[in-house]
Amino acid sequence: MTSLSPALKQATPVVVDRALGSWIYGTDGRDYLDFTTGIGVTSTGHCHPKVVAAAREQVGKIIHAQYTTVMHKPLLELTEKLGEVLPTGLDSVFYATSGSEAVEAAIRLARMATGRPNIVVFQGGFHGRTVAAASMTTAGTRFSAGFAPLMAGVHMSAFPYAYRYGWDEDVAVAFALQELDYLLQTRTAPNDTAAFLIEPALGDGGYLPTPPAFMEGLRERADTHGIQLIFDEVQAGVGRTGRFWGHQYSAATPDILVTAKGIASGFPISAIAASTETMSKAWPGSQGGTYGGNAVSAAAGVATLEVVKEEGLVENSRLRGEQLQVGLKEIQDRCPAIGDVRGRGLMQGIEFSREDGTPDGVMAAAVQQATVDQGLLTLTCGPAGNVIRLIPALVVTPEEISTGLERFEAAVAAVVGAVTATSGG
Ligand SMILES: Cc1ncc(COP(=O)(O)O)c(C=O)c1O
Repeated sequence: MTSLSPALKQATPVVVDRALGSWIYGTDGRDYLDFTTGIGVTSTGHCHPKVVAAAREQVGKIIHAQYTTVMHKPLLELTEKLGEVLPTGLDSVFYATSGSEAVEAAIRLARMATGRPNIVVFQGGFHGRTVAAASMTTAGTRFSAGFAPLMAGVHMSAFPYAYRYGWDEDVAVAFALQELDYLLQTRTAPNDTAAFLIEPALGDGGYLPTPPAFMEGLRERADTHGIQLIFDEVQAGVGRTGRFWGHQYSAATPDILVTAKGIASGFPISAIAASTETMSKAWPGSQGGTYGGNAVSAAAGVATLEVVKEEGLVENSRLRGEQLQVGLKEIQDRCPAIGDVRGRGLMQGIEFSREDGTPDGVMAAAVQQATVDQGLLTLTCGPAGNVIRLIPALVVTPEEISTGLERFEAAVAAVVGAVTATSGG
């Protein structure tokens, strides 16, 4: 019998029958509150009626209007809609299908625009699984081990992970900027450096908001040296953090912005945005792809951006995120195994630590599995799998957040109780 590859690891045993809003209904007859949103993708919730209607209508018109052959209306409309939310000056957009592809398109563009080879990434960053994207991913060796050689020209600098170092944020930022300056002096000269690539909040690397002062320090150095600043908003964008873009907690703006995931509520589409001047430096014909900017995905993207605006979902993300974080911090007060609770909007991380402060991936994994038993879907992240990440849909209600908190605490209690009972015995 043919089966799925054993290398495809699944975080839960759930087989989905159908889903709506914040809920997934399993073939096991159980209802699950989904705080994973397909890794931050189903921004407007599962099967939002407006997104479903837009996709259905488009399927009846044309499905694959290949964009290097013909142009189609949904992509033109999506570009116009994106223009309403993109940072000033980023007035040119290229579309691809996945986040990894868009990250690679951004890197190609930065290299072509500067004529320089090297890329600086920051420790803990996740930028995708295709080989070049994996070469720039330092969220865990599991993403790059075993298939070297990786892409050359990638250099890693420190990320201001204050909790890990046991410092306050200002000290961590000063340290990380100092390390970056050191890297530019010792390893990749500014004239050889095409881009800094950073997430406004680390995703797979541990759900860590990037401190505004760090983003601003990168902007300053990018301006000084003519380096392209690329913000990977694949996970943090489209309202996820309580602002439309995750970088909007800082005064820094990108030269190139990468978006995907939440932009079309589950339909595969990704994009990069830059100024027309920068985009014009790419060789004509260097951007393309068979499936890029798919018509059904683009129609779903237009509907998604409309729903996000009409239903005030960025504000809902901020408010529900605050509610979630307050509740999680109360649980932390009752549970010493939780070392840190952090995040912005509906991108919240719970880091598990042992008594000596070292990361506790075993505990996080056990709690994540226990949440499934409680009817709550969650994911882990972080270098040791030591962080549970909560990524509810942007349409999540106050009642659903309360239910999620109750189920999360029940899962923690079940695991901590078991651990205590085991060590007591
Ligand atoms: C910040 C970030 N960049 C890039 C990617 C890669 O996107 P994809 O999995 O669609 O290739 C991800 C995926 O999780 C991501 O979180």
